[in-house]
Amino acid sequence: MGIYMKTVKLSEGLSLSAVVQGFWRLEDWKWTSKELAQFMNACIDRGITSFDTAEIYSSTLCERLMGDAFSEDASIRGKIQLISKTGIFQEKVNGETFGYYNTSYERVMQSCKESLQRLRTDYLDLYLIHREDPCFDPWETARALKDLKKEGLVKEVGVSNFDPFKFDALNQAMDGELVTNQIEWNPVCFEHFNSGMMDYLTVRHIHPMIWSPLAGGRLFKKEDPLCCHAMEKINEIAERHNEKPETIIYAWLMYHPAGAAPISGSNKLERLDLAIKALDVKLEHYEWYEIYTASGQQILR
Ligand SMILES: NC(=O)c1ccc[n+]([C@@H]2O[C@H](COP(=O)([O-])OP(=O)(O)OC[C@H]3O[C@@H](n4cnc5c(N)ncnc54)[C@H](OP(=O)(O)O)[C@@H]3O)[C@@H](O)[C@H]2O)c1
Repeated sequence: MGIYMKTVKLSEGLSLSAVVQGFWRLEDWKWTSKELAQFMNACIDRGITSFDTAEIYSSTLCERLMGDAFSEDASIRGKIQLISKTGIFQEKVNGETFGYYNTSYERVMQSCKESLQRLRTDYLDLYLIHREDPCFDPWETARALKDLKKEGLVKEVGVSNFDPFKFDALNQAMDGELVTNQIEWNPVCFEHFNSGMMDYLTVRHIHPMIWSPLAGGRLFKKEDPLCCHAMEKINEIAERHNEKPETIIYAWLMYHPAGAAPISGSNKLERLDLAIKALDVKLEHYEWYEIYTASGQQILR
């Protein structure tokens, strides 16, 4: 019997599992291809079928390691939605590594083909422009993304970390085909509430993907006063619901009408299970605002 997992529908052709698994930290996990393939299969067994990576993660090593796991177990690729990103580049300039952006037609086309080679796959389910590029020609980037779609190398395209102006610029040039904006949001990060991005996406039924839902683990470290304030309230709510604080945070992210798909970055299945558990938790409406204001950064007027 197949497992039931709630999904987030990004387009007619693409739905993501309600929780996405991220692989940014994969290099640190020091796993063999076999161990990585086992972890991927354990995610799939739980219904977590959407996997997030990027060209720039560990300077392309992350994609390469994932590709090795896909060749270790050839059944995995057909069961998942594979997401990668382009646009951030590192190059030796005068002997020093220089990081910059390149969203030109040639670079996006080449970058995608290189990602496919490393990932040992024929297509990506979703391809994102990783960050805002200040020297950005939306028409040129859109031409590349449209050609990649036409060639069947990517199924859908979107962006990451874009503000409403940049999103509008590229989406206009794309004739409205962008399907998501992958953004940071957690109990100590509200950039996209303050920029209006959350409203921009919600009114257009464009579902965001959420990175660092647990603030990259900082929430639990008791170092940052913002995190300590936020966790005091989150722990209180967790006790009320008889759940772990991680579950409450995921429930809070998924409560919002934007219909967000959070990306879990842990390599521990028990922590992924805490995220999945959130699908069964119903917060009280007032509890959403308790967490929204808990760190002290956001106020209700
Ligand atoms: N688009 C972008 O610009 C962008 C930027 C960053 C990330 N991302 C994507 O988003 C994904 C998730 O980001 P993230 O890794 O920062 O997510 P996250 O889930 O907020 O953080 C994961 C980190 O938190 C630690 N952690 C989780 N629960 C913990 C607990 N109870 N106590 C202590 N530490 C805990 C994990 O350690 P363990 O592994 O030991 O559990 C891991 O190091 C990435 O993999 C990547 O795919 C995208």
